[in-house]
Amino acid sequence: MAKAIRFYETGGPEVLRYEDVEVGDPGPGQVRLRQVAVGLNYADTYFRNGTYPIPLGNGSGMGVEAAGVVQAVGEGVTNVQVGDRVTYTGFLNTLGAYSTERLIPAAPLIKLPETIGFETAAAMTMRGLTSSYLMRRIYDFKPGDSILLHAAAGGVGLIVSQWAKLLGLTVIGTVSTETKGEIARAHGCDHVINYSHEDVAQRVRELTDGVGVNVVFDSVGKNTFMGSLDSLKRRGLMVCVGTASGPIPAFDPVMLAMKGSLFLTRPALADYIADPAEKAALAGELFDHVGSGRIKIEINQHYALQDAVQAHRDLESRKTTGSSIFVI
Ligand SMILES: NC(=O)c1ccc[n+]([C@@H]2O[C@H](COP(=O)([O-])OP(=O)(O)OC[C@H]3O[C@@H](n4cnc5c(N)ncnc54)[C@H](OP(=O)(O)O)[C@@H]3O)[C@@H](O)[C@H]2O)c1
Repeated sequence: MAKAIRFYETGGPEVLRYEDVEVGDPGPGQVRLRQVAVGLNYADTYFRNGTYPIPLGNGSGMGVEAAGVVQAVGEGVTNVQVGDRVTYTGFLNTLGAYSTERLIPAAPLIKLPETIGFETAAAMTMRGLTSSYLMRRIYDFKPGDSILLHAAAGGVGLIVSQWAKLLGLTVIGTVSTETKGEIARAHGCDHVINYSHEDVAQRVRELTDGVGVNVVFDSVGKNTFMGSLDSLKRRGLMVCVGTASGPIPAFDPVMLAMKGSLFLTRPALADYIADPAEKAALAGELFDHVGSGRIKIEINQHYALQDAVQAHRDLESRKTTGSSIFVI
């Protein structure tokens, strides 16, 4: 019998339940997948706690990213065949990833090159594709540009910092502990700010001769938003990547003018991989960097699927570094 994590109400990690599930045969456009490794992403906590509202009438699966082997294909599926090694990430279209076996639409599946293992794939399809568009689509980076990268020792953080160094950028990372600071430095951060006790904007000004950085990647949200705006150079770009500390309060856009005619975007991966050709290009660059060893995917937490409650607790209490996965 297949197993899955499901939830029937929004709330804390304790709402997650480990259950037997019937998988059945794939319908038109669907695939049945035997999953080998599943990604644990911060976005999963947003589905669980209601930040991303979804209908929960009959409960819902959890998780949006995994890697595995195609077991059966439904009518009309042409992009993959039985036996293919694949990975995927998405949003509502891939919800239900915390499972040993599942049905899934074929469209989000990406074939894995031989150089990429299942665990690496599950650890980086969401975080790596996100890093790929943040580095290659959001801003026209030139060597010597500078970035401020919040949560630099996290899953997205460790990939972005390595990629940024490949582009010749100066990387200022923030972390909450000295240990995380060492990890961030080892993965490319030129400077590390401990935002538990340092004033981020003031330190960024000191480190950039008063000018500020070209781009801020802010995945923390509520607690860092203002300091991020104050760290940007004139006409710099504020990228609201996520809200690990809570949603950003409403503000008047005139503030962007007052702080230097700043630009602001709140991007979602789904809009950068909606076009199949663009998705293939972003995935191709990621697989190339990882397959050749230029970017290392650090899987620092491995969990069993039945330990999903603990996994969510660890992620939300800032105990994790790098990527976290469930191994089936
Ligand atoms: N927009 C997109 O397309 C997209 C796609 C993927 C992910 N994301 C976002 O990217 C971010 C990173 O995702 P991830 O899965 O790699 O997670 P992660 O960075 O590994 O974990 C979140 C980190 O946020 C930091 N943090 C700061 N304040 C926090 C708080 N109050 N509570 C919990 N954590 C806090 C912690 O690092 P410190 O202890 O060092 O502060 C924590 O380790 C998330 O915000 C996620 O939503 C966005």
